[in-house]
Amino acid sequence: MKADLLVGNIGQLATLRGPAGPRRGPDLADAGLVAGAALAAAAGRVVAAGPADAVRRQVDLAAGARVIDAGGALVTPGYVDPHTHALFGRYRADEYALRVAGTPYVEIAASGGGIHASVSDFRERSDGEIAALSLPRLRRMIRNGSTTIELKSGYGLNLEQELRALRLIRDLDGSLPATLVPTFLGAHEIPAERREDREAYVDELCDVWLPAVAKQGIARFCDVFCEPTVFTLDESERILRSARGLGLGLKIHADEIAPGYGGAALAARLEATSAEHLIVIAEGDLDALAASGTVAVLLPATSLGLASTTFAPARKMVAAGVAVALATDFNPGSACCESMGLVLSLACSALRLDPAEALVAATHNAAWACGEGEQAGSLVPGKRADLLVHDAADLRELPYHMGFASVDRVLIAGREICFTESELRDRPRPV
Ligand code: NIG
Ligand code: FE
Repeated sequence: MKADLLVGNIGQLATLRGPAGPRRGPDLADAGLVAGAALAAAAGRVVAAGPADAVRRQVDLAAGARVIDAGGALVTPGYVDPHTHALFGRYRADEYALRVAGTPYVEIAASGGGIHASVSDFRERSDGEIAALSLPRLRRMIRNGSTTIELKSGYGLNLEQELRALRLIRDLDGSLPATLVPTFLGAHEIPAERREDREAYVDELCDVWLPAVAKQGIARFCDVFCEPTVFTLDESERILRSARGLGLGLKIHADEIAPGYGGAALAARLEATSAEHLIVIAEGDLDALAASGTVAVLLPATSLGLASTTFAPARKMVAAGVAVALATDFNPGSACCESMGLVLSLACSALRLDPAEALVAATHNAAWACGEGEQAGSLVPGKRADLLVHDAADLRELPYHMGFASVDRVLIAGREICFTESELRDRPRPV
């Protein structure tokens, strides 16, 4: 087999090899570790990965092939971040300070802050401004190891602005090396000007916006913020069924705030691709979720950003057979977190996932949670050569180092990604 890239001298390689589909139960801890390994790729795809001598025997290096010496380090698949709202204007650090002092998220939202604040800010800014503000954030996510990133609209909240958000995401996808997965989140909130006719808002979303989004082919998923104070179970179901009818995949923000509201059970019933948050899921809904193909995307950085000590019941989920994945939820409100590395630390210390389980949840299962399971999340022949060379020798070091990326080198589709310091900084400063 011809290869144009060889990564050799890998001390520990997490291949994540194994059957297709999200992992559950005891399989969640199977990172497919190989000691003394190598990996070969051709045209951006993995062609061989495993014990170094076996890989060498299998491949023929093309003239001019790139050879990387991993120096005995740990190599893993790139992180997949299947839930972010990284397209926005200004930050909302003022709200974080209020939450730390005890004001609840819903109270801040009810007084005009929260999603509403980001909606008016988004609508006022030009395309160029939004792109310039979002780029360094996305680059930081990549620098921290995220090679596939799901990105939601949801700060436009009218047809024109939501289509603009999805177009901006498409343009960012073209100018960044990572794979961006676009999600339509017109059902993120009811905007202030539509509060009096919410029924008409939901009608329009189903009958006009979704067909327009589907026709333009600029979103792969439709998401809904399902909470009694935002979109009810009935409204969420209606929106998601319309989306499915138009060929979109389904995601849902579920059981984040109102205890046991039932969004996760709805996701399971609809066989949605993912149900996300699940901080306060009813214990009685775990079996339905486990019996479905829906992946539970856990967002422990959101609890941190909400200044809360309540986390999703991850151990109970794993015990019940729910497929769990991890994401940052990067957004200007509840979770200003660009780092999957920090999410791994929280997943272990707060959710009590084992380090290997956390890695599988942040790569293989995360890829299945955003429709990229066939392309990313593991280092097996045929998948994209998205990989991280860590400044670490053992996968247990990943969550152990807290708040600091152990990621030394990032390769996407076999190409090494480097950003300058200034490309990673927020410039212009959002005000
Ligand atoms: O996932 N829950 C809804 N959406 C985001 C928050 C967005 C915001 O506050 O701007 C979340 O936490
Ligand atoms: Fe979210």
